[in-house]
Amino acid sequence: MNFENILIEQKEHLSTITINRPSKLNALNKKTIEELHEAFKHLASRTKVIIITGSGEKAFVAGADISEFADFNVEEGADLARKGQELLFDYVQNLNTPVIAAVNGFALGGGLELAMAAHFRVASSNAKMGLPEVSLGVIPGYGGTQRLPQLVGKGKAMELIMTAGMISAEEAKDWGLVNYVVEQEELLPLCEKLASKIMRNSSVAISAAIKAVNANYESNINGFDVEITQFGESFGTNDFKEGTTAFLEKRKPNFE
Ligand code: COA
Repeated sequence: MNFENILIEQKEHLSTITINRPSKLNALNKKTIEELHEAFKHLASRTKVIIITGSGEKAFVAGADISEFADFNVEEGADLARKGQELLFDYVQNLNTPVIAAVNGFALGGGLELAMAAHFRVASSNAKMGLPEVSLGVIPGYGGTQRLPQLVGKGKAMELIMTAGMISAEEAKDWGLVNYVVEQEELLPLCEKLASKIMRNSSVAISAAIKAVNANYESNINGFDVEITQFGESFGTNDFKEGTTAFLEKRKPNFE
């Protein structure tokens, strides 16, 4: 697949997507969002884990591309948020394949929103995170007002959004926004190590677990019911037969 603004690297069952607009600090313009959608869609069925990161040493993603929406009207603004959420942010959150955000620098606005849509986050020590939209007279539109309180609690989310401030990687770890902080050169190796641990397990079961965990954050859905359904369906899978048989035979499972 040929893309203008993203790079893809595949190592066996692990794919890494790198957003590659370093001169614009990897800001998410329309084209990049469309390409990311296509890449996630393509890789989800061909890979076991996806890492998403930014190119260069300075930024993961410094936000939505401000130059593209500066003259939008009310309808265009709503359309921007709706399409972006549908194509990328909700799409990533609901992907069956685990997505790890390797936050290698500024993750601001849409950048932090993309990292938050991933299933979990690892940051380099130079990373800085924030939702500065109110400083531009707008609010986070790619799910930030919903996912940030889910991850860090309402009070901290309100503070970060209202002050338009930035927190350091260490603060983000204290807040529970990222799971680990490492030096920049250790960032991708750590994500790859975490990916290899995930890849030892059943991809089918992991995809069911993603559905069940996500159900906790959906309105009108009872997450416990989703868990019961997904748990029950696991019993009909080859991976369940292989996993339990391997345990009883005292050997490592060999998932398809
Ligand atoms: N949209 C469009 N372009 C962006 C961008 C964004 N969100 N963030 C950075 N860029 C561009 C800059 O315009 C600049 O381009 P230029 O060289 O053609 O002028 C280039 O990326 C480098 O950014 P610059 O501001 O010169 O780097 P810096 O080190 O001085 O500052 C930031 C880094 C991240 C603090 C600063 O770029 C910034 O505040 N960006 C916007 C963050 C934001 O508000 N995001 C939310 C958007 S809704």
